[in-house]
Amino acid sequence: MTTPTSHPVTARAHANIALVKYWGKRDAADNLPAAGSLSLTLDALTTITTVRFDAALADDAMELDGAPASAAVLAKTSRWLDLVRAQAAISTRAAITTRNHFPTASGLASSASGFAALALAASRAAGLALAPRDLSILARQGSGSAARSIYGGFARMHAGDTSDAAYATAIDGDAFAARVRMVIAVVGGGAPKLHLSRDAMEHCAKTSPLYAGWLACVPGDLRAAEDAIARADLPALGEITEANALAMHAAAIASRPAIIYWQPTTLALCAEVRALRERGVPAWATMDAGPHVKVLTEAASADVVAGALRAIPGVSAVSISASGGPAVIE
Ligand code: PMV
Repeated sequence: MTTPTSHPVTARAHANIALVKYWGKRDAADNLPAAGSLSLTLDALTTITTVRFDAALADDAMELDGAPASAAVLAKTSRWLDLVRAQAAISTRAAITTRNHFPTASGLASSASGFAALALAASRAAGLALAPRDLSILARQGSGSAARSIYGGFARMHAGDTSDAAYATAIDGDAFAARVRMVIAVVGGGAPKLHLSRDAMEHCAKTSPLYAGWLACVPGDLRAAEDAIARADLPALGEITEANALAMHAAAIASRPAIIYWQPTTLALCAEVRALRERGVPAWATMDAGPHVKVLTEAASADVVAGALRAIPGVSAVSISASGGPAVIE
């Protein structure tokens, strides 16, 4: 079972930041989330990936940011490519070239844009024409957050009852998404993360006495966030965003042993965001599996927010991102 060498296919996808977080799996093997999540896709964080199935290759090959991918990354990607090969009924190995175009030393996770771009490029190169829902499922099997990066603007991940029902959909809210900005403050020069999100979620689910409380608050937060987007109500969306991130980190911090992603600068940034709000500037903070702080605001306030965050000692870079578009073929 082989196919002739395919033409190279190049796809572009943007990373996303969760406003209601994905934190916990109900099935690790199939990468099924324990709950839904909701995100904003970001224009400034882009991955561009080229895939070619090549009959002359004995093994899959992968170049990441100009260098050969590590054995661990290649092994994971190869297992994921088997899902594409199974769907396309081919056995040909693939050559992948992928490059992240992120703000300098951002230290931000690129797995969302990475697996979204890869799902689109690899499925097309294998001769498949998948609908967004099926692309989202394929991306999820690589990285949970990648399921959301198939779409531009606001996206909603559904936990689903089965693997076929765990995919993301776009949320109608493009005019609102065009008005908002995410200001990204990088803490600690983009050093590699201390705990990989995959392992950290599992450890949190197993050991944190607050994990059940975290999961219990997600459905209400999702409803409130969707209602806020439907009303284009930024303060309501911002409040849910900040509260949800703090609930996720509270559960992580209570893990035994603890998972603490924050550094002193992270907390200084959170205090600055509160101070901005007290001065009437719309700004709400969210943090993921790292010390960086992303601040949801409106376009008209983004420069003021960025200036305030730049002044905090320990911040190594600040960038402003608008809402990004869906994963596309280049
Ligand atoms: O998609 P993963 O396995 O990298 O997990 C993402 C986890 C968070 O970034 C912390 C939350 C989220 O929903 O993106």
